[in-house]
Amino acid sequence: MDVETGVRERYSLAAREKEAALCCPAPGYDPGQLALLPEEIVEKDYGCGDPSRHVREGDVVVDLGSGAGKICYLAAQSVGEAGRVIGVDMNDDMLTLARKYQPEMARKLGGDRLRFVKAQIQDLALDLEAVDSYLAGHPVRSAADHARLLAWQETRRHTAPAIADASVDLVVSNCVLNLVRDRDKERLVREIHRVLRPGGRVAISDIVSDEPIPEELKRDPELWSGCISGAFTEEDFLRAFAEAGFLAVRYDQWGAEPWKVVEGIEFRSVTLTAVKADEAPCLDRGHAVIYRGPYACVTDDEGHVYPRGVRMAVCERTCRFLTTGPLRADFIGIAPAVPHEPVPWCAPAGTKRPASETKGAAHQGTGTGGTCCG
Ligand SMILES: C[S@@+](CC[C@H](N)C(=O)[O-])C[C@H]1O[C@@H](n2cnc3c(N)ncnc32)[C@H](O)[C@@H]1O
Repeated sequence: MDVETGVRERYSLAAREKEAALCCPAPGYDPGQLALLPEEIVEKDYGCGDPSRHVREGDVVVDLGSGAGKICYLAAQSVGEAGRVIGVDMNDDMLTLARKYQPEMARKLGGDRLRFVKAQIQDLALDLEAVDSYLAGHPVRSAADHARLLAWQETRRHTAPAIADASVDLVVSNCVLNLVRDRDKERLVREIHRVLRPGGRVAISDIVSDEPIPEELKRDPELWSGCISGAFTEEDFLRAFAEAGFLAVRYDQWGAEPWKVVEGIEFRSVTLTAVKADEAPCLDRGHAVIYRGPYACVTDDEGHVYPRGVRMAVCERTCRFLTTGPLRADFIGIAPAVPHEPVPWCAPAGTKRPASETKGAAHQGTGTGGTCCG
């Protein structure tokens, strides 16, 4: 059996009957938010972490592989009236289970901020309920029918995407990326990047392995659908997001104890966070940043080098990212004393900004007041 069929069959059963083997104890969810959820949703939790704590008021959130909908129903409480939550799952039985409680939760929350979409998370543009409807009217009986279906799907991805480009503030997921075939994992990370708006965030709880997983374990459908043998290695997980262009990629949470050990390989739950870069061009107006320490020197994903305590030249976009984004506690931003006309330029690694160009200007940092950029 191919691994994707194994995943479909196992999660169809798990939607009907709770499967204890798929439950990986996760750190405490917000008890107040949890209390609002129907018991069945809490019980059929097949996650391994809590990405919902990264949700902010007003966010548009997409939950990849939403299952029974627990993370979506938690997130729906955090986003408030202005936000929206979209759960994505490819499994009809899981979607039926998640949607079963939508009216009840809408009453409790005072409005329906939630929608569950049928799609593969590695192809977030293709609405699989639309595909089902198309196939009901156009059954595939020949190679020519199949070619017509593929062409229709391609058009549909562009004209009516399930999740549009740059439409999402936060992508979350809980124990799902490991279920996606290895050959589709790169596309999956690209899809996450596509749907996020510039500056959008990622919070993904998943299982990682501490060593490469041998092929015979990967071919075992039980281990694959059980969230084990399809896991990224701990190194590849972060690398995949950095290579797709995300910034500030890090392990926000790390399970000290492995969840499972198979043939000596440790599988543990982690949460990755990252940010999609702002798409503004690199324009130099004379900004600088100082890395506070404690490390002697750090290098960012764009190749800029920041020795501790040194006033380094950065373009306005980089200054904004370092002083207002997730790394703001680590950097002091300094505006130009006399802003000059913007020049397209991104400081080569190691370029210092002479103090004479920034002396007396606003500093961004604890207690110094003012924001140098952004
Ligand atoms: C381990 S469960 C996690 C469910 C949920 N996130 C939770 O925390 O309980 C995996 C879910 O992802 C869905 N899934 C697996 N692979 C998928 C894919 N490629 N595209 C969409 N959904 C997928 C399954 O149908 C299942 O509902």
